[in-house]
Amino acid sequence: MTDHNEVKMVEMDYSGVRAKAKNPLKIQDLSLRDGHQSLFATRGRTEDMIPVAEQMDEIGFWAVEVWGGASFQTMHRYLNEDPWQRLRTLKRYFKKTPISMLMRGQKLVGYRNYADDLAELFVKKTVENGLDIFRTFDALNDYRNFETVVPVMKRCGAHFQGCICYTLTEPRLGGKLYNLEYYVKKAKELEDMGADSICVKDVAGLMAPYDAFELVKALKAEVTPPIHLHSHFTSGMSPMTHLKAVEAGVDIIDTCMTPYAYRTSHAALEPFVMSLMGTNRDTGFDIKALTRINETLEKDVIPKYKHLLDDSKVSLIDIDVLLHQTPDFMRANLEKQLREMDALDKINDVYKELPRVRKELGQIPLVTPTSRIVGTQTVNNVLFDTEDERYKMMTAQVKELCYGLYGKTAIPIDAEVQKKALKGYERGEDPITCRPAEVLTPELEKARQEIGDLAVDEEDLILFALFPVTGKKYLMQKYGKEQVPDTVKPITLEDVKKRDDMIKKAKAGKLIEPAADLPEKSEFARTFNVFVDGECFEVGVDEVGGSPVISYASPAAVTPAAAPVAPSAPAVPPAAPAAAPPKPAAPAPAPKPDAAAGSGTPVAAPMPGVIVKYEKNVGDSVNIGDTVVVIEAMKMENLLPATADGTITAINFKPGDSVAKDDVLATIA
Ligand code: CO
Repeated sequence: MTDHNEVKMVEMDYSGVRAKAKNPLKIQDLSLRDGHQSLFATRGRTEDMIPVAEQMDEIGFWAVEVWGGASFQTMHRYLNEDPWQRLRTLKRYFKKTPISMLMRGQKLVGYRNYADDLAELFVKKTVENGLDIFRTFDALNDYRNFETVVPVMKRCGAHFQGCICYTLTEPRLGGKLYNLEYYVKKAKELEDMGADSICVKDVAGLMAPYDAFELVKALKAEVTPPIHLHSHFTSGMSPMTHLKAVEAGVDIIDTCMTPYAYRTSHAALEPFVMSLMGTNRDTGFDIKALTRINETLEKDVIPKYKHLLDDSKVSLIDIDVLLHQTPDFMRANLEKQLREMDALDKINDVYKELPRVRKELGQIPLVTPTSRIVGTQTVNNVLFDTEDERYKMMTAQVKELCYGLYGKTAIPIDAEVQKKALKGYERGEDPITCRPAEVLTPELEKARQEIGDLAVDEEDLILFALFPVTGKKYLMQKYGKEQVPDTVKPITLEDVKKRDDMIKKAKAGKLIEPAADLPEKSEFARTFNVFVDGECFEVGVDEVGGSPVISYASPAAVTPAAAPVAPSAPAVPPAAPAAAPPKPAAPAPAPKPDAAAGSGTPVAAPMPGVIVKYEKNVGDSVNIGDTVVVIEAMKMENLLPATADGTITAINFKPGDSVAKDDVLATIA
């Protein structure tokens, strides 16, 4: 059987004219969404996308992914940007190339399933603001979570790309659960729903080249919509995986422009363009035009972001991912969470417990938000479980998962865990089996009432409905009711130059410039080595009139990460490598209540987080185990129980307040 997509060399025309391929491989560029999300903490700003947008529009991409995923949240929270405005702006520059987004099915761009009214409005408004392609996935591959949004996409004339989250339980494709039949079955479900294309979405970079070949072959044979492959580079297999997928007939692949490629991001585009040149799958892309885009990025854009790149390792490849099969963003979250709880030494216990928790919770794929649900619960189990009690501190999201609010898990949830989760659960002790949003009450009107005039249009309303706390804060800033903090303002290339100069000086040991009235160094001057965080500074001390004068200080061998920053240093985002000195103290949310001073039993925060709500008020009586307060940490809600029977005598914070580990949130007497 000859395959329409089979790769063959075609006769090259060396006169300089490149013959057009019969069936060119189509490419979606991810630089402006997944690229900066993977490498630069999703901090890419619209103003830094504009310089390349018009050039990219000329390349002939199948689509450019520029929206969705974490970007919606990051924009309003950390960049002082209206997410909707980005869509409208980029639409003006991408005149020929369709614009796509990553949407989490009924979870939209959030972490839970939203009610149908909100989901419908979101899709409608997204199309109105310029979106063409919805790359839609569900973390459980439960496509009932597409049932509301897909008809709206279709009505609005948008492209519905259905995703299958790729996950494994074995080192390679196969085993009882996530095998070839599973993926073919899922693809057929998507085809039946009217998918305009089908994407296999491998967020952890687990897909091996020969598995990709088998999988794409099978999908091409069994379903008609075009097949699209999304496979992260993390493990290093992805360029091989993509090439084998091309050989098996994949229609579309995802790549990034070189500065946004590799590490935990995606394979770079340019090697594919060259590899396929002169074949019947030639992309037809102009490699010189791509080079010019890369030059613009390297010169005008990347300098502003390079400090966000995790370059703690020289290696571009994370081999560990093949062992623990944890997507890189999940691993980063686990480490961050453990660090915040002073328990980083428990990381190996967490990796050991993780497969067990995943299995007990229904062997679900690990992708946002299930990666966080499984990850946070694993950390909680490792830190808080006792010999005779597991799942001692369950997050609200685990309870919701056990209730069925995320959908159907790949295998049934462990009966004991489920029973424990649903004991006294507010929605009921019997889990649901219907489409999750069936049990959700409409939420738009409630949000409209709450936000009132602060939401000027439906876009504002959606922002608030999706992110009530940070969304409201952003709207306050957008409409001048609250000052925009410096930390969310952009840095300029001049700032970058100042910072780079500072680092250069520090490396050369010239950071501290001698004062004009520097006293003469006496014969009694003594030299000391001062050790700070593994760095050694040579300090000269000369005693004058009884009080020692520090005459000079020069770093002995300083790395940028530890370079002290002079007070005149440019304002850079907190993650800047040059900004290593003591953390700027966050404004204290409230006078810190002293645990010892209050009378009664304290309910203390087991981890740093943000207060979501108090379930109890002062004067309420509680029994041990009743939820007193809910705090959000790592985007999961932790229900903190009463530690004694009695009456609440003090509530020390309010919703939205940030709290540190061990802060006393309430007192019971
Ligand atoms: Co991705």
